[in-house]
Amino acid sequence: MFYQLFRPLLFSLEPERAHAVTFSLLRTAHRLGLLSLIRAAQTDDPVTLMGLTFRNRLGIAAGLDKNGTCIDALGALGVGFVEVGTVTPKSQSGNPPPRIFRIPQALALINRMGFPNDGMMAVCARLAKRHYSGVCGVNIGKNASTALEQAVDDYVACLHAVAPYADYVAVNVSSPNTVGLRSLQAVDHLRPILSALLHEREQLKSRLNRYLPIVVKIAPDLQHEELQQLASLLLELKVDGVIATNTTLQRPDNWPLGALAEEKGGLSGAPVHTLSLTTVRSLRAMLGSSFPIIGVGGVASVAQARAMRDAGADLVQVYTGLIYRGSSLINDVLSAFSQR
Ligand SMILES: Cc1cc2nc3c(=O)[nH]c(=O)nc-3n(C[C@H](O)[C@H](O)[C@H](O)COP(=O)(O)O)c2cc1C
Repeated sequence: MFYQLFRPLLFSLEPERAHAVTFSLLRTAHRLGLLSLIRAAQTDDPVTLMGLTFRNRLGIAAGLDKNGTCIDALGALGVGFVEVGTVTPKSQSGNPPPRIFRIPQALALINRMGFPNDGMMAVCARLAKRHYSGVCGVNIGKNASTALEQAVDDYVACLHAVAPYADYVAVNVSSPNTVGLRSLQAVDHLRPILSALLHEREQLKSRLNRYLPIVVKIAPDLQHEELQQLASLLLELKVDGVIATNTTLQRPDNWPLGALAEEKGGLSGAPVHTLSLTTVRSLRAMLGSSFPIIGVGGVASVAQARAMRDAGADLVQVYTGLIYRGSSLINDVLSAFSQR
């Protein structure tokens, strides 16, 4: 209701400007204690997964709070977890703007951000200062300037840096906006990366004195066989979970994307929902009933959140749905989840 009044104003701004304004308003509202006024009364519906207790099953997907500048305010909206990032070892500015495009008639976005972020150390400093007591994951990636063959070093450096501040770490090998990154999903490339990360986690064990789950975030554009091989690898290496999915490079033709369909980048929102659901459903069949799956892609309603759960997701994340519906999406989904 509140957001529906604000939205035309925000949508009159360039998307990144609108994002900055929204974050600034959210932080101010949080400081003034106002977010409790727009947040659902009942948000607790605890679930334990990967050794972590989530207050409820709904979280904020990576990319919304890339730098960890709004964790407390986002958490105060009632979600069970917030995933910060993608962070890279060194700060980088990402691709040149414009790099986010709204497609309101399809409830979609296309973005080619390319991991603009302040770098892992700056983000760690903010993570250390957070007050949000819910689960906080950190999504890690490689710098654009790092050769693909050296990607493993970037992932290990990020894991090492963020481990003390993260409740879980998400390994992003599925962004379409860093050249070649998605090729790291192929098992021959993914195996050494995951093995190195699991080894690094083992090294950090005594220092951390707690279990740090590592999950992998994948694309909705993998062929059945690629998905099968990836699932087998996750089981073999005993990776803790999988996030499905990132944005798609496809442009499904049953959606009114208009001329913006030509823009390079990943498509999110309503048009990715079926692809994400199909991926989650396949993964659930391949991975068995107890393997943790976090479902994300085009959730903008209670029905879509339920569909994600029914496809096999233990937890659900949102991003583009929030841009179009605001925090009422969180309230609606949490009240529906608590009823089932
Ligand atoms: C503008 C934008 C930036 C994103 N940045 C990241 C990112 O840095 N890392 C990541 O893993 N996913 C990123 N994503 C992908 C989302 O986390 C999510 O997987 C995807 O958008 C599908 O969910 P949705 O349809 O609810 O948005 C980004 C998405 C958008 C729209």
